[in-house]
Amino acid sequence: MAEISVIEHIHSMQLKWSPTATGQFTSLLHDLILSAKIISRSVTKAGLVDILGGTGNINIQGEQVQKLDDFANSVMIYRMKNCGVVCALGSEEEEELVIIDNAGERGNYVIFFDPLDGSSNIEANVSIGTIFSIYRVDDNTALTKENILRKGSEQVAAGYFLYGPSTMLVYSTGHGVYGFTLDPSVGEFLLSHENIKIPETGKYYSVNAANYDKWAKEDQRAVDMFTHGGYSLRYVGSLVADFHRTLLYGGIYSYPADMKNKNGKLRLLYEANPLSFLMEQAGGLAVNGQGNRILETMPEHVHMRTPFIFGSVREVEKYRSAFG
Ligand code: AHG
Ligand code: MN
Ligand code: MN
Repeated sequence: MAEISVIEHIHSMQLKWSPTATGQFTSLLHDLILSAKIISRSVTKAGLVDILGGTGNINIQGEQVQKLDDFANSVMIYRMKNCGVVCALGSEEEEELVIIDNAGERGNYVIFFDPLDGSSNIEANVSIGTIFSIYRVDDNTALTKENILRKGSEQVAAGYFLYGPSTMLVYSTGHGVYGFTLDPSVGEFLLSHENIKIPETGKYYSVNAANYDKWAKEDQRAVDMFTHGGYSLRYVGSLVADFHRTLLYGGIYSYPADMKNKNGKLRLLYEANPLSFLMEQAGGLAVNGQGNRILETMPEHVHMRTPFIFGSVREVEKYRSAFG
C-alpha cells in the first residue's frame, strides 16, 4: 500500500483546488506539524521529565497555567513567528493579538490556536490536543483588530492535533476532512482517515452533567431527551477528545451557557470556530445557544466565549427542538 504523508496530501489538495498557490500555506502547515511533533514528544514523556504540574501563574482566562500549557504555547509562538508566512496570531495563553512583522516582509496568514486543550487532564495521562484556525489576508489589508477578527465562515483551514494513544492530525481546507496518524518510527503523519463524514446519528451524548442545575430550562429539556432517550453518556473533559469521538462515532456534544459561565465556557476563535469548520465539512452541525451557526458569529474580542453544541444532524436537530 502506498502511504501518503500529510505534506504530500497538502500538495495534492493544493494542485487540485488552488493551482496558483505560492507555497505559503504548505510552509505554514509544515511548521504547525513540526510544533505538534515537538509538543507530542514532551506529552509522551510527561511522567519522566519535569514538565508536569503548574507554573504558579494564572492566565487571562483566570485559569491556572500548567507547565505543558506554557511549553506548548512557546513552541507554537516561536514557530508561527518565524515561519515567515504569519502576520498575526491569537493564542489562549496570550492576552492580546500578536502582530508579526518580519523586517517589513508580511505573511498572508492569521492563525488562532489553543496550544494545549484539556489541561485538567494532563496529569492523568488522558488525551489532550492543540487546536488551530487559519485565515488569509491580502498584502493590502491593514492589520486592524476588525480585519483580523472575522467570522468562522471565512476560515481557509482548521484542524487539531490529538495527543492520545496515538498522535493524530485532523484538518480541513474546506474540501473535506482528513485524518493522519503519526508513525513515530518514520516521524511522519500518514493518511489514516480519508474524507471523514460524521454518521447522521449516533448513540452518545456528551455534557458536563454536573452543571445541570446551572443551565437554562431549554438546555435542561434538551439534555433530558438524551438522558431518558436510550443514549449513552461519554465525557472526557478535553474538548478535542470529545470532538474526535463525536466526529467518528456520531452523537452530540454540548457545553451550554450556565449561571457561572453566562456566555458559555468555550472560546470562539480557537476552540468553537475551528471545530465547527471541521464539523460542517464532515456533514454535521455546530450551533450556539440560540441554535444559530457558530461560523456566522462576529467575534468581539480574541477570547470571546460561546455556548457550543455540535454533532450529528439528527441529534443537533433534536437538541434544537427543545429551544421551541
Ligand atoms: P483548556 O484546557 O484549553 O483551557 O480547555 C478546557 C476546556 C475543554 O478542553 C474542555 O472540554 C472543557 O474545558 C471542560 O470544562 P469542564 O471541566 O467545565 O467540563
Ligand atoms: Mn481548550
Ligand atoms: Mn488550552
